[in-house]
Amino acid sequence: MIKKIGILTSGGDSPGMNSAIIGAIRAGYNLGKEMYVIYDGYKGLVEGNIQKVGKDFAKFYASMGGTIIKTARLPEFKELSVQKKAVENLKKVGIDALIVIGGDGSYIGAKKLTELGINCVGLPGTIDNDIASTDYTIGFDTALNTIVNSIDAIRDTMSSLHRCCVVEIMGNRCGDLTIFSGIATHADFIITNDRQYDPQELVKELNELKKTKPDHIIILISEKIMDLNTLVQTIQDGTGISTRGDVLGYIQRGGRPSAMERFNSTRMGVYAVELLDKGIGGVCVGIVNNQLHYQEIYEALKKPRDKHENLYHSFDLIK
Ligand code: ADP
Ligand code: F6P
Repeated sequence: MIKKIGILTSGGDSPGMNSAIIGAIRAGYNLGKEMYVIYDGYKGLVEGNIQKVGKDFAKFYASMGGTIIKTARLPEFKELSVQKKAVENLKKVGIDALIVIGGDGSYIGAKKLTELGINCVGLPGTIDNDIASTDYTIGFDTALNTIVNSIDAIRDTMSSLHRCCVVEIMGNRCGDLTIFSGIATHADFIITNDRQYDPQELVKELNELKKTKPDHIIILISEKIMDLNTLVQTIQDGTGISTRGDVLGYIQRGGRPSAMERFNSTRMGVYAVELLDKGIGGVCVGIVNNQLHYQEIYEALKKPRDKHENLYHSFDLIK
């Protein structure tokens, strides 16, 4: 029977992580466990930055973005000797199980620790929604709300000047934030890794659209596909439409978590503790069809990502 559970956040932060931490800590105490936080992700684990916390830890931080226990990237954690050091530090305190909130990379670290005797459960923490084993990642809903609000504001000023704006959206190499916000804001075009555009083809379509005298034009593009300034110039030169580019940037990763974010993150934190209490480890938690579920980490990582063909189809019907 496990007695002491640790929690860490790893990789990029995301709004809602605090709710997952609070949910896990409170559920842990109610199930008779001692709860610990590890600051700065795997880096803090290796450095022994571990603190015992009370039931009310972070209680007032649910409304804040970021992660109260900080996060980090530690590439050396791929090395067995570094993982062993982490296990040593956990054993010194008597921690027998760990909740790791992060993305795919963090999940692999969690699996390695499980193989070394510390049962771990991964929770999907990233705004990108790029974890195939869950419909929803912690941070996605808030980032989506921030993006939609930003596009609304951009639309106001583009409309006043009859301009075209190309808005660059985060997501690493995953287009979910772009296609979801494209539908939510009724954008004119979206460019993602699931649907790329040759810039010349885009110019051709924009020239067709121009004939209908649109009030303004909104194009959404996922980051890391092509250079934004070059695309803006290509559009302006090829269509004669006054065009601007806007990179939304880190505002997408911060801010007050939405109600849905807090709700889902809290549930996942609680569920992680319940799994560990049953002696289940080496797994990651997800929400699929609105139900909490878990899956072995390597199996989860093998799952192909949903390319949302149905969403692109809907987008085409509202263009
Ligand atoms: P994410 O968890 O968001 O995918 P990263 O890929 O940057 O972000 O991974 C976060 C951290 O997880 C890394 O800095 C490293 O400490 C750990 N990690 C990533 N890949 C591995 C691996 N193959 N083995 C062990 N730990 C890993
Ligand atoms: O994974 C979350 C994310 O915000 C991506 O959308 C983005 O590409 C990346 O992190 C940025 O990472 P960094 O904090 O290293 O700039």
